[in-house]
Amino acid sequence: MATGSGYGKVILFGEHFVVDGLPAIASAIADRTVAEATIAKGPAPAARAGTYVIDGEGWTLYDNRPETPGYKKEKAEEQRKAIDLMLKFMKVDVQKNPLRLVQGGELLAVSGVGASAASCTAIARAVNGLLKLGLNDEKINEVAFEGEKGFAGTPSGIDNTAATFGGLIWFQKAQPKSIIERLKLKKPVEIVEGNTGITSSTKTVVDDVKARRLAEPARFEPLYAEAAKLIPEARKALESFDLKGVGELMNKNHELLQSLTVSCKELDLLVGIARKEGALGAKMTGTGRGGYMVALTPGKELQERVAKAIEKAGFMTMKTRIGI
Ligand code: MEV
Repeated sequence: MATGSGYGKVILFGEHFVVDGLPAIASAIADRTVAEATIAKGPAPAARAGTYVIDGEGWTLYDNRPETPGYKKEKAEEQRKAIDLMLKFMKVDVQKNPLRLVQGGELLAVSGVGASAASCTAIARAVNGLLKLGLNDEKINEVAFEGEKGFAGTPSGIDNTAATFGGLIWFQKAQPKSIIERLKLKKPVEIVEGNTGITSSTKTVVDDVKARRLAEPARFEPLYAEAAKLIPEARKALESFDLKGVGELMNKNHELLQSLTVSCKELDLLVGIARKEGALGAKMTGTGRGGYMVALTPGKELQERVAKAIEKAGFMTMKTRIGI
C-alpha cells in the first residue's frame, strides 16, 4: 500500500483571468486530501457511512472525504474522468494492476478550495508510490494537471500547482512551460473562508466566461486589461507586507469577478459581512457562482470576529492562514 497527499488552496488574485494567460496568486492551505493505493485483491472493503464508491475500469475509488452535502455525487463523473486520464498519462496497466483507491483527509470536498486538484495530486502520488513509477514533484504536478482536465476541461494549472508544491505561489500559464514562482510573506496572515454551500462546476463556469468574452468583447476585454494591471500590484503589496493594500486590491478583484458574472448573491453577501466586520479585504475565490469567499483578517481577534459574523448568518467557515 502507498499513500500520497495534496493541499487545498485559496486563490487570492486572478482566478478565471489565469485561464486566459494572465498571472494569478494562490496559497496552499493546511488542510489536505490523503489518498491510499493498493492492488485490488480479495473481497472489497465494507463501505463506511459517508463513503462514496466509484467503480472505474480497472479501479475502484472509496471516497471518505468530508463533504459539503451532494458534492461527491455531483462530481462523480468528473472524478471518474480525472482518474482515467491520470492512469492513462502514467501508463498504468490496470489489467495487470487493478487498483483500489481510498481518499480521505481533513480537506472538505467542496467547490472553491481546490478539492479536485488536491484529490488528483494525492491519487497521483499514491499510485506513483505503489507502482514505483519514480515520478518527482514536477511530474506529479503534470499528472495532476491531466486529472484536472477531467474536472475543469481546460484548467490553467494553478490549482494542481498549489496542491502539489504548497506555499504561496505566483502562477502564469505558458507554453511550453507555465511560470511558477514562490512568493514570500514576512509572516503568515490569518484569513477566513466562507462557504456558500453551493457546488459549482469549474468546467461549466469557465466555458460560460469564455463564451461571454467572445460574444461581448467590448464589455469583457477591459476587465482583462484591468486584471493585468491589478495582479502584479497585488504581488508587490504581498511581498512588501502592505496588508491594507492587499485588502483593497482583493476588493477590486472581487468587483472584476462580479463584472465577469462569476460571483453570486450568496458570495456577495458573505463578502459584505466580512468587510463590515473589519476584514481588510474580501472576495470570492476559485470558480465562483457558489463555493467559497476569502477575507483577509490579520490577527486572531479579527479572524474570530469575521468568522462568527458569517456563521451567525448561517454559513460555514474555515479559519486558516496564508504564507505558511
Ligand atoms: C478554479 O479554482 C480556478 C479557475 O481559474 C480555473 C482554473 O484556473 O483552471 C476558475
